[in-house]
Amino acid sequence: MKTNAEIKAVIFDAYGTLFDVYSVGALAEELFPGHGKALANLWRDRQIDYTRIRTLCNQYIDFWEITKDALRFSCAALKLDLTDEKFDKLMQQYAHLAAFSENLEVLKKLKTKGLGLGILSNGTRQMIDSAIDSAQMQGYFDHILTVEAIRKFKTVPEVYQLGPDTFNVDVSEILFVSSNGWDACGATWFGYQTLWVNRAGMPLEELHVSPTVIGSTLEDVFQLIGN
Ligand code: LAC
Repeated sequence: MKTNAEIKAVIFDAYGTLFDVYSVGALAEELFPGHGKALANLWRDRQIDYTRIRTLCNQYIDFWEITKDALRFSCAALKLDLTDEKFDKLMQQYAHLAAFSENLEVLKKLKTKGLGLGILSNGTRQMIDSAIDSAQMQGYFDHILTVEAIRKFKTVPEVYQLGPDTFNVDVSEILFVSSNGWDACGATWFGYQTLWVNRAGMPLEELHVSPTVIGSTLEDVFQLIGN
């Protein structure tokens, strides 16, 4: 049996992994009764689609702008009247997300183990800083890595390369944690040990690659690290 390298650092994806985007869907439902779920889903899908189209065509704009564009498109597609006021409310909600309930305890425990901790996100530094404040996660992370320097989005290898370059360890010694199946697969291809936190109970992506561990909460990191 192949034994995994000892883990020296843990890097987390941001949205849906550390920060709970549920409140965005709840606000969408409040603003557009009966359409909240459809809007939240389409908004998220278009947001990720735009990161990929812009990366493929070398047309970078930052994730905050992409998030706005995806919101406008999604409301238009669903024929929802997106007033300036509703637009601002939804974008502000996106900037102020809560943590999933187990997350702070998990981060605290990882920190006491002396592991390097980081975030690697498509988001801008400003978005991540704001989310960290809202989720009361200040002080846990040694490095916050965003794609702004690379001007491409996940899943390009240059973005995943930021992890080993910054922590100065081999990629096989880093555990990458994401709730996005496609992100967990991309990171596995790149060479990380990976945990897919499958909070939504989705099937594994048909990409012919499997994350090292599939779990359902952030606490599943301890399957790879030990208690
Ligand atoms: C991120 C998105 C993909 O933080 O969740 O990069």
